[in-house]
Amino acid sequence: MSDESKPVAPRRQRSDYKAVWSDLSDTLSRAKMHVIGTEDEDALTGSGKATADFLSKRVGLRPEDTILEIGCGIGRVGKQLAPRCRKWIGCDVSPNMLRLARERLQEFSNVELFETSGHDLQAIPDLSVDLAYCTVVFMHLDMWDRFSLVKEAFRILRPGGRVYIDNANLCSDEGWSVFEHHQHYPPHDRPAHMTECSTPQELQEYLKRAGFGQIETALDGLFVAVWGEKPAGS
Ligand SMILES: C[S@@+](CC[C@H](N)C(=O)[O-])C[C@H]1O[C@@H](n2cnc3c(N)ncnc32)[C@H](O)[C@@H]1O
Repeated sequence: MSDESKPVAPRRQRSDYKAVWSDLSDTLSRAKMHVIGTEDEDALTGSGKATADFLSKRVGLRPEDTILEIGCGIGRVGKQLAPRCRKWIGCDVSPNMLRLARERLQEFSNVELFETSGHDLQAIPDLSVDLAYCTVVFMHLDMWDRFSLVKEAFRILRPGGRVYIDNANLCSDEGWSVFEHHQHYPPHDRPAHMTECSTPQELQEYLKRAGFGQIETALDGLFVAVWGEKPAGS
């Protein structure tokens, strides 16, 4: 059979999040590597605590809060936040990630986990959450899907509720290096989950267009984080 006539396995589309991420998380080892780039439990704990502390100190966190993580993975951050809130809800497009999160968070009675389509938060009622955050996920999403999830966060948050999003920052030296490195991939070899950076303005615009106010930004090396508040009466 000549090369031309061999059947070619269809390449996964970036936006087929369920297939892409179910595959990337088919074992604990692969799931950990794709969540944070290491299998080391101390590194997972330390980085999860750093994110939880940032949310607590900068974005705002109260013991009576219901918190939602969009794209929760194996519960790296949830493990640190569950003891600090009334209810922690983790959602993810990958059933494999959710199975691992369920095992890793079984000590907590205030944790709920559910599977999403990858394009919305349909199972979450309007006006039912105090803090919605999405960390280390936007780099894997198409721009339109990033904005869809921000709009969904607006819908499910109570007035006064906070949203937090982050991504690799194209305008930082570190983010630019990632961009240049990925430029060397031939277009047809680009992995479906390959990091695509954001500018701070892109993330700020999503929050503004969705209706959030009090928008704040933090720049830290590779990362840009943007958060805001759902205005009272909306
Ligand atoms: C790099 S991991 C980060 C996990 C977690 N946020 C953390 O920081 O530990 C990206 C996660 O986003 C999930 N994901 C990817 N696309 C998604 C989508 N469209 N909707 C919800 N989750 C998604 C993946 O399954 C994966 O668990």
